[in-house]
Amino acid sequence: MITSAHIDDIRTQVRAWRAKGETVAFVPTMGNLHQGHITLVKEAASKCDHVVVSIFVNPMQFGQNEDLDAYPRTLAADSEALTAAGAELLFTPTPAVMYPKGLEQQTYVEVPGISDVLCGASRPGHFRGVATIVCKLFNIVQPDVALFGNKDYQQLLVIKTMVEDLSLPIEIIGIDTIREDSGLAMSSRNGYLTAAEKAAAPALKQAIDAMATGIKQGESFEQVTELAKAKLIAAGFTPDYLEIRHAHTLEQAQHQDQALVILAAAYIGKARLIDNLRFDR
Ligand code: PAF
Repeated sequence: MITSAHIDDIRTQVRAWRAKGETVAFVPTMGNLHQGHITLVKEAASKCDHVVVSIFVNPMQFGQNEDLDAYPRTLAADSEALTAAGAELLFTPTPAVMYPKGLEQQTYVEVPGISDVLCGASRPGHFRGVATIVCKLFNIVQPDVALFGNKDYQQLLVIKTMVEDLSLPIEIIGIDTIREDSGLAMSSRNGYLTAAEKAAAPALKQAIDAMATGIKQGESFEQVTELAKAKLIAAGFTPDYLEIRHAHTLEQAQHQDQALVILAAAYIGKARLIDNLRFDR
């Protein structure tokens, strides 16, 4: 696998592939890779001739009191796992490469509406940071296809909307969440959990699943939400949000809506975990 922190190196390699008529899939990450990321890379390898991965802990998407400095950086292990999974080109820019004028002077991309609710409401500016860095990475790599995890459901919708609104010629593919045997969604932030917190953490998915079951059985949105919140609190979580939304717009679900998604974010110990379930009634 070729690794470079320089934009020109990435462009030169991708151009050489394109000159031969070959296709390129892209998996943007912040590193500290787990099985969820590796699944994205393997899926990418099955779709295109070449796979490009980026590792960049993007300061623009972190709030002031968030875990930017503590975010785990594990480049050696990540490189080994990526090579084994079939990635051929790894882009590892520094903040100075991506934001040479600093964050304040940087042109940004903002996807209105859908960026302002749920995680966007709890983490102001987060999705501006995500949309801006993903747009920049897309312009550098110019992939045919880009893959993202469905665990970050709102992020996926923000990116799909950006690609559509800016007419970017890239197919965006969401890949199912990879879970531990306990049901806990894999996440780099699971590394912040103590053993006791990790044992309690599957309660997040269990609460979401119970809500979906209740809804399918005809219980009211309010009833299932209150019960699930109580279960989360009993398991040691502090819920940030637990919501039933329209799966395509993320607007508050109406009782007649068929395409639904339950989205949750909750704090446990030092970690803020998110999870979701998309289903049709
Ligand atoms: O999901 C992530 O890891 C990040 O938000 C992304 C898409 C790589 C942008 O920094």
